[in-house]
Amino acid sequence: MITPAITGTGVFTPRETITNDELVEAFNAYAEKFNIENAEAIEAGELEAKSPSSTEFILSASGIEQRYVMDKSGVLDPEVMHPVLRPRADEEPGLMAEMALSAARDALAQAGRTAEDVDLVICAASNHERAYPAIAIEIQELLGAGGFAFDMNVACSSATFGIQAAADMIRAGSVKCALIVNPEICSAHLEWRDRDCHFIFGDVCTAAVIEPAEAAQGAHFLIRSTRCATQFSNNIRNNNGFLRRTRPGQMEDRRDMQFMQEGRKVFKEVLPLVSRHIADHMAEEGVAADDLRRLWLHQANKSMNDFIGRKVLGRVPAPEEQPNILQDYANTSSAGSIIAFSKYSDDLKPGDTGLICSFGAGYSVGSVLVERA
Ligand code: COA
Repeated sequence: MITPAITGTGVFTPRETITNDELVEAFNAYAEKFNIENAEAIEAGELEAKSPSSTEFILSASGIEQRYVMDKSGVLDPEVMHPVLRPRADEEPGLMAEMALSAARDALAQAGRTAEDVDLVICAASNHERAYPAIAIEIQELLGAGGFAFDMNVACSSATFGIQAAADMIRAGSVKCALIVNPEICSAHLEWRDRDCHFIFGDVCTAAVIEPAEAAQGAHFLIRSTRCATQFSNNIRNNNGFLRRTRPGQMEDRRDMQFMQEGRKVFKEVLPLVSRHIADHMAEEGVAADDLRRLWLHQANKSMNDFIGRKVLGRVPAPEEQPNILQDYANTSSAGSIIAFSKYSDDLKPGDTGLICSFGAGYSVGSVLVERA
């Protein structure tokens, strides 16, 4: 039986950051302008006035202090309120492929591998910049990797579902070296004009190399088992797609083309789902709470993570047991748990067990039980 292992990870972090103060200042300028421009309609009760956002609310509701983005100038311009991302010619690398390259190279270097060793590339992310050709195939080409490549999307759970797909193929012997990349351009599908969610997301790309443990060139984590589950819900949804063109007159400003969520419902419904999922996964593998050295959780909201950590360990986890990165990166969709894993796993000792878990739209939840080799 082949045991798959995570042999390398990499994180591409965009150069630009937006602090909560910068974000709130831009939003409030936009809201004030909106209210002045629409004063008559607001007065007549036809439109709702926009309320201001606040740094204190953002920090206390989410734990987020700043986010990295591919373009901050557009987001912070009250006249624009979205990132201005240069359109690419077909001959140029796409934005997601470009973000993926640096994360992929770091992951391969850590694994002691070169692109020629790779025979599977999975681009697993929440929002793909085009439907086809698959972004993963473009990444395969730009890296100079062999084999085959495909895209997949399970929203915030894309990375763990991608790891399961790759680990299963490694076990079956159909691939020898898989590269999973998670380029998340969340800034482009976030509605920065909606104060309920304008603070939630940031951009990033993560990468992970999965190989048979016996082929590992250096320190690595054995993948003991993976577990994925889905249950349909409309509470986190994005309707952006080519079908939008079938509704004339609504193209420019349809709110449902961006990220939408019923945040409160998500909170209430996803927490039990995730806690139960992790408990069942651990029970199935005979892993007790005391056996778990680390939890690398999806990074959506600090209170959510605190709740899950308490539920899984049966006590308040020490900060090093459940590292958070969302104060710096915000919610980076599928990449969040992999950033946490990449930055906070080196210190684990051989035999130490940990669990990577992501969850989100779908609903979906994926967990990966790993052991330091
Ligand atoms: N600034 C100031 N006040 C704000 C605000 C802002 N930016 N956004 C909302 N508020 C107000 C609301 O209008 C509401 O006011 P009210 O009580 O007078 O109605 C109040 O603050 C509370 O808003 P609410 O949306 O209920 O806050 P919350 O505590 O539920 O936190 C989320 C909001 C989104 C952070 C939280 O629900 C969450 O994290 N949910 C899960 C998110 C998630 O995991 N999504 C998955 C994405 S992949």
